[in-house]
Amino acid sequence: MILLLSLVALAADPAAGKAVYEANCTSCHGLAGDGKGPAAIALPKKPTDFTQATYWATKTDTDVAALIRAGKPGTPMAAFTQLTDEQVSNTVAYLRSLKK
Ligand code: HEC
Repeated sequence: MILLLSLVALAADPAAGKAVYEANCTSCHGLAGDGKGPAAIALPKKPTDFTQATYWATKTDTDVAALIRAGKPGTPMAAFTQLTDEQVSNTVAYLRSLKK
């Protein structure tokens, strides 16, 4: 039972991740995750398009979680240190679900 509970706790929840994404990320990455948010036009570096299968081909969930945590120095991508580990992994699960 304890094992079962911890497996449930570890499973990322893309629906919860969608809420985190919509609250924090759509201004740049876009509602559809295609990098075309309303603020993107003004940015010197274009936000990542998470709908591209080529993007996901080279990234593990751990890579993407680390980028959300630490941000991307030299780009407008800030470090989202205020998110919990659970929120970050849920957001990664949601982003991966946007892959076409
Ligand atoms: C102020 C605009 C902005 C906001 C808000 C923003 N991002 Fe970004 N994000 C960017 C830009 C610009 C990049 C850099 C793209 C590049 O390097 O090609 C980026 C890069 C990333 C990357 C790294 C892609 C890679 O592999 O290099 C991830 C992951 C990411 N964003 C996720 C998120 C998530 C999740 C949120 C919300 C919690 C978020 N971003 C909020 C603008 C933003």
